[in-house]
Amino acid sequence: MPSAICPVCREVHDIGPEGVCPHCGGELESFANSDAYLKEMAPKIVEERKVAGIEGLVGGLEAVIINTEQDHQRAAVKGLLRTTGHSFAGAFLDHSLRTVVLSHKSSADILVRSRQGGGGPFTAYNGALKTRHLPSTRLETFVFRCRDLERYVGIQRERGVQFVQEDLVHTGTHSFIQTVPSTFTGNSIGFVEWHSPAREWRPDGSDELDWAHEKPDAPHLANIGMLDHTATRVRARDRDAAIIEFMHLTDYTFQFAVYVKHLNSITNVARLLPDDFAMVFTSGISPFSDDHPSGPTEGFIKNYGTRVHHMAFATERIENTFDALKADGMGFLLELVGSPDEGLKQTFSEASPDTLLVNEYIHRYGDFDGFFSKSNVGLLTAATAKQ
Ligand SMILES: [Fe+2]
Repeated sequence: MPSAICPVCREVHDIGPEGVCPHCGGELESFANSDAYLKEMAPKIVEERKVAGIEGLVGGLEAVIINTEQDHQRAAVKGLLRTTGHSFAGAFLDHSLRTVVLSHKSSADILVRSRQGGGGPFTAYNGALKTRHLPSTRLETFVFRCRDLERYVGIQRERGVQFVQEDLVHTGTHSFIQTVPSTFTGNSIGFVEWHSPAREWRPDGSDELDWAHEKPDAPHLANIGMLDHTATRVRARDRDAAIIEFMHLTDYTFQFAVYVKHLNSITNVARLLPDDFAMVFTSGISPFSDDHPSGPTEGFIKNYGTRVHHMAFATERIENTFDALKADGMGFLLELVGSPDEGLKQTFSEASPDTLLVNEYIHRYGDFDGFFSKSNVGLLTAATAKQ
């Protein structure tokens, strides 16, 4: 089905470019992504945040929440302990949620969770061809630090943002709330306001679980550091809307996009601070079509739906670490690519059968602050076609 975009209201329609927008009557054009609109919108959204009074309230990433099937949770935790620098920091059962906390001193936490009884607001996003056998499995939520959460939520409700919880969840150590999943990404954005200096995720009245998972005693795991970025796959037609929605919810700003034309793929980067966790969105340039090659990015969405594709970890001594992970049995989609001259080295693991997530290992040289070199991005994107 051809796609057309209205240049007036920016709505994308599954009809030919001839004709007028059913929404506002604007004259339709053929749809393809370009950065002109995003670059024009980014400063306007920052201005809107300032006017609304939310600019500066949301800080950096505190945790990602990965939900798994109940019978995959232990294996998911074991897999992450064996392939990241994160360590076991506790496990608890709260009402219907069983949560394992993995932490690293210089990183956002990873909360590996399962819902007792299944269900939940994300199920609708987990039914793609290669994910429907794991209907509860996805990286569901990005939790950002927030100050004055009460005020933030009040303002955002006025602006039409919908939250899963009717009210803030208050515990002795923190307050929490999260948005309903985005229709563009299937991701939720969570917010935590800490009332104590330590990150303590256990809610009041939760039961401690006898789930102490040992960290493997392997020296190469000490080389794997912070969660550097994640990459979410979104449909070509939703790229602008997904990034704009994320900017409306956080203090992040769209920074740049890299086009890989022969693979019909764009990698888009939103940042808070130069050294902070970066939010990456990857989309097609043109929408998926049965009529012409749509490329691995749109192909991934056809098979797995919109979701986080990979978590990237900053890695020291990356050659040794890559060899050690391989020797330990980890599979990879490609070899280590890049060089000091290009500014970085990186690779993608195969996806975990328990979380469906790929691990990226990335090492930057000197003051390089990018996410790939021109040659790497093609190799990495092409490697994802194996999935
Ligand atoms: Fe990446």
